Amino acid sequence: MEVMEAIRTNLAVREFRPDKVPKDIIIKILEAGRLAHSSKNTQPWRFIVVDDKDRLSLLSKTTPTGAHIANAAFAIALFMENAKLPEVDGARAMEDMMLVAWSLGVGSCWITNFDEEKVKQILNVPKEWKLITVAPFGYPVKPARKGKKKRKALEEIAYYNTYGNPISRMIEQR
Ligand SMILES: Cc1cc2nc3c(=O)[nH]c(=O)nc-3n(C[C@H](O)[C@H](O)[C@H](O)COP(=O)(O)O)c2cc1C
Repeated sequence: MEVMEAIRTNLAVREFRPDKVPKDIIIKILEAGRLAHSSKNTQPWRFIVVDDKDRLSLLSKTTPTGAHIANAAFAIALFMENAKLPEVDGARAMEDMMLVAWSLGVGSCWITNFDEEKVKQILNVPKEWKLITVAPFGYPVKPARKGKKKRKALEEIAYYNTYGNPISRMIEQR
């Protein structure tokens, strides 16, 4: 799948089929995270793949907005170790993993509001690490609403040279 097509069609997936995701696909998704950019190429991310149903269920209870983790085929818990810009490096790696997953038919959803200490206990990670997210992955129950993204128009969020100068001026001047 071409990159723009993946971005155009990738929607938050919260309902997953019970099917397992093959291990080679999970490794490809992790590869995308491994190859992401990071500040000074420090690669501070640590990925924990969780497919144990009991643990997924426990993780789903560590946030009020992530019940769907329980029904995922697997989740990737993303932690940062000694990162200067943890959210930036972490978000880049996770977004790359989510896009590659989507290009392979696997849906996902970013989750927030975790009780970080509980997540760390469940996964037995060092307390110094910083949690970025635990993202559920799996094959979507419903076919994707292809191209049906509800997003602001470009004119509402993009400008040309100075704030307030419509982006359409860029096109007019060429
Ligand atoms: C920073 C961030 C935090 C999010 N937190 C949650 C969350 O806690 N639970 C959830 O179900 N979805 C969460 N989402 C998913 C968004 O709700 C979703 O991307 C947005 O509604 C657009 O959905 P769509 O791509 O299906 O149109 C989060 C997304 C981002 C980028």
